[in-house]
Amino acid sequence: MSDVLCMYYSRTGNTKKAMLEIAAELGAETVELRDAVERSGWQGWLRCGLDAMKKTTGPLSHYETERPLSEYRLVILGTPVWAGRCSSVMRTFLKEHGGELERVAYVLTRSSENRHQEVWDQMDLYVPGTHRAAASLRSGSVGYDFWKVEFLRQVKEFLVE
Ligand SMILES: Cc1cc2nc3c(=O)[nH]c(=O)nc-3n(C[C@H](O)[C@H](O)[C@H](O)COP(=O)(O)O)c2cc1C
Repeated sequence: MSDVLCMYYSRTGNTKKAMLEIAAELGAETVELRDAVERSGWQGWLRCGLDAMKKTTGPLSHYETERPLSEYRLVILGTPVWAGRCSSVMRTFLKEHGGELERVAYVLTRSSENRHQEVWDQMDLYVPGTHRAAASLRSGSVGYDFWKVEFLRQVKEFLVE
């Protein structure tokens, strides 16, 4: 069993790719979060934007972790940025379980130059402490690998403490 859990939501695969790369480096367990909302196509895009802006939350599809959330050394949460916020799927998870996450780190994926670091602070509002490490990755950008390696360095530093 792994000490590190990587949980993520990904609508179009960018966050999933980043989280699977990170999990492989750390030997971490991975769990994908989903909801039952139709989020494909332009109508789905619009729905995502509205849900993010209105901070709408809804039921998550069933998922399982190997152990209770509080027992992991670190839980890494991965989400796309939607309208300058975390995805509503990740917000639902944070609302329901954030209180159980004593040791947490964040991975955002985004499409703009804006790193949206304020989203890390927004996510911190749902957890008991503050995040131990964080990354904001733009797929295909020159900084992608640099910031991913920097994130892994922060995580490994925390794990040896
Ligand atoms: C509704 C919606 C709103 C978005 N808003 C932002 C934004 O404010 N800033 C940004 O940089 N990217 C924004 N994006 C782009 C996504 O964050 C980016 O493409 C991300 O990597 C997608 O991750 P995924 O493939 O895991 O779903 C938005 C995407 C969607 C669907």
